[in-house]
Amino acid sequence: MNSAPVEPSASRRQLGRSRLYTAADLPSRLLNWHAPRANRWERLCIEAGTLQVQWLDADGVSEESLQAGAARWIAPGLRWQIVAFDEAARFTLEIHADESTTAAAPLPLRAALLDEAHCVAIGTVAELAQVLDALSAGARSLVRASFDFSAAMGEAIARSKGRLCWHPLAGDGGGLTALVARAGQAIDLLEYLGRDHAVIEAALAGALRGDGERMHWLRNSLARHLVIEEAMLFPAYLAAGGNPGWVRGLCNEHNHLRHHLDRLDDPGSQRRFLLLLDGHDEKEEQIVYPDIVERLAHTLAQDTRTIIELGLVGMPPTASDEADVEPVTAPRD
Ligand SMILES: [Fe+2]
Ligand SMILES: [Fe+2]
Repeated sequence: MNSAPVEPSASRRQLGRSRLYTAADLPSRLLNWHAPRANRWERLCIEAGTLQVQWLDADGVSEESLQAGAARWIAPGLRWQIVAFDEAARFTLEIHADESTTAAAPLPLRAALLDEAHCVAIGTVAELAQVLDALSAGARSLVRASFDFSAAMGEAIARSKGRLCWHPLAGDGGGLTALVARAGQAIDLLEYLGRDHAVIEAALAGALRGDGERMHWLRNSLARHLVIEEAMLFPAYLAAGGNPGWVRGLCNEHNHLRHHLDRLDDPGSQRRFLLLLDGHDEKEEQIVYPDIVERLAHTLAQDTRTIIELGLVGMPPTASDEADVEPVTAPRD
């Protein structure tokens, strides 16, 4: 490899560890260029067989053969992919957060999501249709409607062959406010849930600035997201043989999020909420959601549409009163 091996600081936090990947069930994302996010480190641990890995850094592409027993740190932003492997290959991926860039605020890119969205007010279904028609691929709009357009939005999503999605934010006085977006191709479950995390983090950024409306949006978007996971995704995942330890750990963290959300004025609660949300979203996107997608393959298309079309919901109750116990932060096999 061109770049010298580097490691995160000793004060790193392990956020999670993948299941044991084998040659027979490698996730496709590992076979394409990808990289750990800002302040994230990955650790590739080879338990058996051989993996041929390419690294892409400032010096270009280099290739390395990793044998059983090898462990490699992958720095934030370093692009890498698996290009070959033998049938005996078995490995895990750990995800760590570097404490030198602790989550003091949501990631800037995500925080900008709501601030930069084009805002439009509508009063009829016909005006909603005009807004949606005018959305180009990759664009999004913040729609403030004087009526509840949930049903019309569901129909528009169905007609769009999955290219449209929405994130309802508030429904007050008979009106409805939502972020609507159009993609160039059908939005899959991983992409939608990642977008939903981004909306929650963006609302949080506004709430921390003291914006009361963003706080309201944060409550609503988090409530809906937790219903998607706890009432829709996780039960189906467990019924399909999913990892109960991962679900228990994530639900425990949800309870802590609910607990600290009510106390965001307190600096200690605010810090815990930020740290918890940061690691939680990462674990789900990198480790848990890909496993859910694999296990729910037969019903995934319908499940995804039902989830994307879901309207505003109330905050689900805390499953158990464990909020004074520190959360389990690392789902393990
Ligand atoms: Fe979650
Ligand atoms: Fe989530």
